[in-house]
Amino acid sequence: MLSKKMSEALNAQINMELWSAYLYCSMSNWALDSGYEGISHWFRLQAREEQSHAERIADYIHRQDSKVVFRPIDEVPNDWGSPIDLFLDAAKHEAKITDCINRLTKKAIAEEDLATQVFLQWFVSEQVEEEDSIRAILTDLRKIGACECGCGLHLVDRELLQRTK
Ligand code: FEO
Repeated sequence: MLSKKMSEALNAQINMELWSAYLYCSMSNWALDSGYEGISHWFRLQAREEQSHAERIADYIHRQDSKVVFRPIDEVPNDWGSPIDLFLDAAKHEAKITDCINRLTKKAIAEEDLATQVFLQWFVSEQVEEEDSIRAILTDLRKIGACECGCGLHLVDRELLQRTK
């Protein structure tokens, strides 16, 4: 059984993960509207991954005999200036999520809630991966920044279309 505070904090994280999914769906739509099929595909899969994170937390709350409470999902942005702006925003967002996960973990440590500490370890590792994958795409986008014909961006877009999960 979770403490009331821990249950509330985990439920708030569900909301953050679903907001992340909503944000990445919006980014996917922007990319498609802007002619970047691969980027759109990448963000669509990322949105699904965020939904799976929310489900993972909800499953844990259930297994701990606590209640999952869904709150409203806030509005998300709908416009970006360029693919690099899109990924910069995604990187900023993931850094925020990492901070949330770290604070949740510290809360579990303070409460001496060992089960939740172990449960959150997966998310701690996942955030390292998520931040790293977005940073790698940003590096590619920055490298092609000097290319004026747009062929570099086209190649990155084609590469992102290959994402399978
Ligand atoms: Fe669920 Fe991208 O963090």
